[in-house]
Amino acid sequence: MRFEKIQNTCIPKVGFGTWRIGGEGLPDSKKDNDSLAALKSALSIGYRHFDTAESYAAGHAEELLGLAVQESGIPRGDLFITSKVSPDHLSYESVLSSFENSLKRLKMDYLDLYLIHWPRRGMNLADTFRALNQLVCDGRVRHLGVSNFKLKELREAVALSQSPLFTNQVSYSIPDRRMVENGLLDYCRQQSILITAYTPINHRNTRSSKTIQRIAETRGCTREQVALAWLVSQPGVITIPMSFNPQHQRENFQAADIQLTAEEMELLG
Ligand SMILES: NC(=O)c1ccc[n+]([C@@H]2O[C@H](COP(=O)([O-])OP(=O)(O)OC[C@H]3O[C@@H](n4cnc5c(N)ncnc54)[C@H](OP(=O)(O)O)[C@@H]3O)[C@@H](O)[C@H]2O)c1
Repeated sequence: MRFEKIQNTCIPKVGFGTWRIGGEGLPDSKKDNDSLAALKSALSIGYRHFDTAESYAAGHAEELLGLAVQESGIPRGDLFITSKVSPDHLSYESVLSSFENSLKRLKMDYLDLYLIHWPRRGMNLADTFRALNQLVCDGRVRHLGVSNFKLKELREAVALSQSPLFTNQVSYSIPDRRMVENGLLDYCRQQSILITAYTPINHRNTRSSKTIQRIAETRGCTREQVALAWLVSQPGVITIPMSFNPQHQRENFQAADIQLTAEEMELLG
């Protein structure tokens, strides 16, 4: 597994997403067994960065992640756990209570990374960061970040955060570069802010692209691994694919070690 080193912290180039763990918008207990099995196999394959959110299955994804981690016996310090506060909870008081609820569900006493999940029109970002900065000051959160922030919003967040922002988590993949266009990627590199690419695989174009297919055949890997390798071959970019399938989980984990050549990167555009 390759890592990115940022703010004296090493974070794996490929982490594990938890959207659809335990349900989608609402908890779905029929999915508990499959969800726990997916988390346990990810931990045993070697995943150590897990991305979750208070909104995933309305908190149930955090509960199942906490359970899987507890049962794995893996020391907390070996893990990098990210969660997110929802756009409806961005007031000072709501951030603090959302955070406490996330920790309770995860059965943890700190988060490695806490993100604002989505910006909200008319949000009072100064109020939100007053709470987030306090959580860092109190040692409850190691790093702060944002998600789905465009360049203007990101600049505002950078100005309000008392610690350097760690990441902007955005949709980014070979077929979907809308979020990083207009200078976002360059700005993140200048400021040493990681881009965490979400939904790196789940696109029809990943499956139908002839270029991806050709590179996969030449390298003897899958198209999905090429899609992930394209992301992790870029400096300052990590990704968090999700899979219920242990074979896919293993392939995604191994994709972290595929460094595409300059020629292959150019072919993929
Ligand atoms: N911040 C945000 O607003 C935001 C938004 C969306 C997602 N996210 C985060 O990003 C994570 C990943 O995004 P995502 O779940 O939307 O999409 P994704 O990881 O790109 O795609 C997941 C889908 O791809 C399939 N898949 C995964 N690996 C595969 C492989 N090696 N070969 C073939 N198929 C494979 C999975 O099916 P199988 O289960 O059958 O393998 C699943 O259907 C989420 O879980 C979440 O943590 C964040």
